Amino acid sequence: MTVTNDAQRAHGDRFGQPGRLFRAPARVNLIGEHTDYTGGLVMPMAIGFHTVAVISPREDDRLMFYSENYKEETVVDPAALDSGRRGHWSDYPAGVAWSLRKEGLRFGGFNLTLSGDVPLGAGLSSSASVEVAVAMAIQSLSGSELSLEKMATLCRRAENEYVGAKSGIMDQFVVAGAVAHRAMMLDTRSLKFDLLPLPEDVRVVIANSMVKHAVATGEYGNRRDEVEAGQEVLRRELGRELLRDATLADLEACRQKMSPESFARCKHIITENARVLAAREALLKADMKRFGELMAEAHASFRDDFAASCEEVDQLVAIALRQPGCIGARITGGGFGGCTVNVVKTSAAEAFVASARREYAQATGIEADCFICEPEDGALALAKKGGAA
Ligand code: GLA
Repeated sequence: MTVTNDAQRAHGDRFGQPGRLFRAPARVNLIGEHTDYTGGLVMPMAIGFHTVAVISPREDDRLMFYSENYKEETVVDPAALDSGRRGHWSDYPAGVAWSLRKEGLRFGGFNLTLSGDVPLGAGLSSSASVEVAVAMAIQSLSGSELSLEKMATLCRRAENEYVGAKSGIMDQFVVAGAVAHRAMMLDTRSLKFDLLPLPEDVRVVIANSMVKHAVATGEYGNRRDEVEAGQEVLRRELGRELLRDATLADLEACRQKMSPESFARCKHIITENARVLAAREALLKADMKRFGELMAEAHASFRDDFAASCEEVDQLVAIALRQPGCIGARITGGGFGGCTVNVVKTSAAEAFVASARREYAQATGIEADCFICEPEDGALALAKKGGAA
């Protein structure tokens, strides 16, 4: 628990007072990629990396943010919150304060310390982890209790409208609402979800290709624009409000009315929604062979139709699939680098990590970071269990 200890100590040293502590995990998505901004289906789980937020009230109305990771303190005048992002790490916590205040939560000035061990730029949702930890902390000061849906929606608004990253709701929702030992199949339109068991004899191994990925910049937004252009055609021509409602036949009927890129991106999303449903069935039947096949199909679709993988990640997936005990492997997160997610027999997990790292280094010259994970609690469950401290 060094992150927790670091945060508490840093808060005391800096602000001369103890604070209340909240933790939010990172996440990995098992299947269902780029579906969450078109009302589609996703299947993430929380993992054992955390952001810790420690908060205490101030006498004045200033918002003080200190990052133990960046060893930097910054002050935000509440009157300046509405002027928006500054291009600084504090945009994330400030954006959450802005979003919560806009929702009507009342809070005065505070000191807030952040510390975390979530790998940055790896596609494991370091940003949602910060947002949810901060939202938990601020709501405790304001004396309100946000529902899971509200918390996720308000954190997403901070990211979309304040920070300026056009992400969907998957990350904030699972980071807040995950439950240990379960993957979460989330319907991003209704925000209804199922908690699904992963068999005891498998582990989820995350392998970081070390190719940097940033949702806030470039390619993620380009893909989203291509998807939305296709969705708009389906809406106009066939009255399909969201891509979620469209079939491959609908898409085919509109092929000539959209760019080849939009066609291919939408094809990925329509087939991916179907794969998430099939993956749910597979988990309910503990049919991990089927689950693995779906992961492989999802990777191929992400690489070929969505065109959002990269050479290193494709190599890492191919290497994983050759290893004994590997059930399935695919890219996870926004794409263009970042991590792969691998479902591996528990008994083979350590050997998997060793040989995947060795073979990836031989192929690319890059040392991949690998983590053997199990589904963890989200921030709300942690707080409820008294796991905040
Ligand atoms: C990023 C975004 C999510 C989602 C994934 C892709 O993680 O933050 O909302 O769109 O990419 O599935």
